[in-house]
Amino acid sequence: MSKEIFYPNKELLGDAAINSMEQYRELVKKADEDYEGFWSDLAKEKIDWFKPFDRVLNEDDAPFYKWFEGGQLNVAYQCVGRHLKDKKNKAAIIFEGDNGDQRTLTYRELYYEVNRTANLFRNKFDIKKGDRVVLYMPMIPEAAITMLACAKLGAIHSVVFGGFSAEALRDRIIDAEAKLVVTADGAFRKGKPYMLKPVVDKALEEGCDCVKAVCVVERNKEPIHWERGRDYSYLQMIENESVKCEPEMVDSEHPLFLLYTSGSTGKPKGVQHSSAGYILWAQTTMEYVFDLKDNDTYWCTADVGWITGHTYIVYGPLAAGATTVMFEGVPTFPDAGRCWSMVEEYQINQFYTAPTAIRLLHKMGTDEPYKYDLSSLRVLGTVGEPIDPDAWKWYYEAVGSSKCSIVDTYWQTETGGHMISPLPGATPIKPGCATFALPGIKAEIIEEDGTPTPVGEKGFMCITKPWPSMIRNIWNDPERFKKAYFGDCKKDGKPVYFTGDGAMMDEDGYITITGRTDDVINVSGHRMGTAEVEAAINNHENVAAVAVVGKPHDIKGEGIFAYIVLKSVPSSKDDDVADMLETMKEINALIKKEIGAIALCDDMAFVPDLPKTRSGKIMRRILRSLVKGEEITQDISTLEDPSIVKTIEDILKKV
Ligand code: PRX
Repeated sequence: MSKEIFYPNKELLGDAAINSMEQYRELVKKADEDYEGFWSDLAKEKIDWFKPFDRVLNEDDAPFYKWFEGGQLNVAYQCVGRHLKDKKNKAAIIFEGDNGDQRTLTYRELYYEVNRTANLFRNKFDIKKGDRVVLYMPMIPEAAITMLACAKLGAIHSVVFGGFSAEALRDRIIDAEAKLVVTADGAFRKGKPYMLKPVVDKALEEGCDCVKAVCVVERNKEPIHWERGRDYSYLQMIENESVKCEPEMVDSEHPLFLLYTSGSTGKPKGVQHSSAGYILWAQTTMEYVFDLKDNDTYWCTADVGWITGHTYIVYGPLAAGATTVMFEGVPTFPDAGRCWSMVEEYQINQFYTAPTAIRLLHKMGTDEPYKYDLSSLRVLGTVGEPIDPDAWKWYYEAVGSSKCSIVDTYWQTETGGHMISPLPGATPIKPGCATFALPGIKAEIIEEDGTPTPVGEKGFMCITKPWPSMIRNIWNDPERFKKAYFGDCKKDGKPVYFTGDGAMMDEDGYITITGRTDDVINVSGHRMGTAEVEAAINNHENVAAVAVVGKPHDIKGEGIFAYIVLKSVPSSKDDDVADMLETMKEINALIKKEIGAIALCDDMAFVPDLPKTRSGKIMRRILRSLVKGEEITQDISTLEDPSIVKTIEDILKKV
């Protein structure tokens, strides 16, 4: 972490929602002194309730916390319907396609589209409150429209990222018992069409009897297979639907969506979020962290398939009445100036992306941002992984003209919204550091028993009080929910939420996230469970054992590295290389099939054995150190075969 401190530019951010550390501390104090009062006031101020809540927080069945009981709302109304009063003709979504085509939906137009889609889902596909709808969508406005249409009906959506394979999609459809799948023929990337519908066709080949229909949005108009009686054209049918649709009232705790994420076991977890608590924090953090103002145009480059896309492209910005930009393409096409040209074109005020993208754009075009007028920018955001000082500095100087605040937002799929982040008008920023917990969020670095970790030492990053936008359950698996999040750390004898991350506080109270403490790696800001990748590799007939670890990567932050023990090793030296390369190809093909291209191994090493204890436990810490080229400091004398460490070290030198 850099020692330099960067103060908010008062000219640019002087009237930010929270514009001094005193104001920040006052809010923190208010929440400390009257936790329920703090949240109750916010919920009353921000949410348009159909029926007011009568209890703020119910902890009786902890950790299954309930917020705002008795209250009723509709999240689509909160995001769209209610804005018709004063924002009817304001742009809600500005879409830019891969090839530069543009489409703007005002709040009124978005309202009509959401209503027509909700009517279609209800009338044609019999979607009712509580039904699950899987969305396998590209980055087009219909992704947001269908999410909101589900919310309008009280149906629970589960968006599956378009990079996941048919097998991964199938697992998620089956786990959620989805009744409807919404997809597109495909979309465009780097000037070329790519396909989604064939992946859905393949996913539905087996075990998906729950799915009654597939609704296809035609985007790239490439030929696709239409299964009679199952597949329906969205664009043809939507024409006939009415633009009027009454919102379905739901209770505060009604699930708004499921989003599958990786954990430390092979099976992805269906993270279940609530309606009221989730939308409250999504909307509030737009104001606290992005300092969103009414005339702002805001752009988050994430994909709707991840939590960042849910909270900070769709739900947060729309609930806050913002203009949110959606981009179908990639930041490097047609060149590394694409993002900056879009910032200029749409006069973007807040730009939110991942360190991976920043590193890549920096590498591909150091001077590129200087070619554009980026003076509209006020706040720059990063998310998903630590940002290194080099990338931070370039982002600050070249993109932000040394004026914008950079908000390094720390949060997770499970937290629903930001947990730790600078406030752009208040926080003196130390690059590479997520700084302080947001008001109302009790983020503490502790030991397993709840004692505070000393300053300067690594501890467990826990959120020690429930908060409204927290995960409510793992779909169909309450026991796993308890164990995965409330099984490791306790405070005052009570289980508290553990993020899975390590963190460290400095003498000024600044929090730095030090990375995962479990077997989850962070590839380009996306979580990948090593067990999931290992399970895919284990399907190869010649694999006897495998261990997957993260390996530092210049652009992606972490890449995937696999240590593989083969059952039969080629006998003649000449066959070696060709055979190994072939096996590597086959293994990556398996990963692509089981999970998707996002989980491909960057590198593999074929080793004679893995370092194991006498009881057979694989010593991953040693494997992690070896791949980083670090000196092995841990005691290896307890290994079943200590000499294996040196053998692997020698093999890695040749990889
Ligand atoms: O390890 C932390 C890292 O990303 C994980 C959450 O991943 P996911 O649920 O996919 O959500 C990503 C987008 C919110 C965390 O457990 N992480 C997230 N933000 C940061 C971060 N690590 C360091 N700094 C951050 N700002």
